[in-house]
Amino acid sequence: MKPAKFNPDEIHDKIRSFEFGRSFVFKEKTASTNELAKRLAHEGTVLPCLILAEEQTGGKGRMQRSWYSPPFTGIWMSVIVQPKITPVIAGHYNFFMSLVIASAIETCADYTVELKWPNDILIHNKKVCGILSEITSGIDNSSIVIAGSGINVNIEKTDFPEEFRESATSLSIESGTAINRTELFIEIVSSLNSIHALWELRGIEPIFHSWLQKCTTIGQYIEIKSGNNYSRGVVQRINIDGSLVLQDKNGREHTIYAGDLHSGIREHFS
Ligand code: BTN
Repeated sequence: MKPAKFNPDEIHDKIRSFEFGRSFVFKEKTASTNELAKRLAHEGTVLPCLILAEEQTGGKGRMQRSWYSPPFTGIWMSVIVQPKITPVIAGHYNFFMSLVIASAIETCADYTVELKWPNDILIHNKKVCGILSEITSGIDNSSIVIAGSGINVNIEKTDFPEEFRESATSLSIESGTAINRTELFIEIVSSLNSIHALWELRGIEPIFHSWLQKCTTIGQYIEIKSGNNYSRGVVQRINIDGSLVLQDKNGREHTIYAGDLHSGIREHFS
């Protein structure tokens, strides 16, 4: 069977009436849509701009990891935005983008997704989408946000690199059927526009509260690696600036702004 390829003209026709959708760049193959986004932002491209790639040859994950991005089976995309509100808080873009993708996934099929701090989307405790938000500067030195999302749509379990096979999943694995990537991408664009309009109208609070309702990190016993430091304890809360508050075994609270989180059972960490 021939792989179902994206048809960029068909997609652009369906999204060009949206504010996020007017400026649309499609690549059959690029190293990383986030890197391309940085270049376009420096060149002064029309914003907001959406980038979609069929394949990434150097997809980037958080913490300098790589992101598996084969052709025909995923959605590898970046959104370039010029924020109206400063200072720019990266955590707000994590809440925003995770909620956009989570809502679109839940609209397209009968999934219930879980959100894991800071910006992973899980189904049945396995990662189906990762988000990488970066801040760069535009042509006039203003701050520009690049929010990249990688969604595993029709990837088979055996196609994942061995090291991710247990921790990653795809929408088709979870539903037992192939998913129409074009329909899902158009739903993402629609959700991007409506949730962004809500943000402009009512601020970040309603987005943060909807994110919290889907977040499964609070109350878990976790270990976080930030830089060379490891912290362990129970997650007490997540703040609206995107930071996480952890209570250690001595009852002391620690506020953590970024890191790699592993959840587990207290005894396994001691
Ligand atoms: C993570 O480590 O969880 C973040 C993964 C982000 C992957 C996406 S795919 C589209 C965009 N371009 C990249 O190079 N990375 C992001």
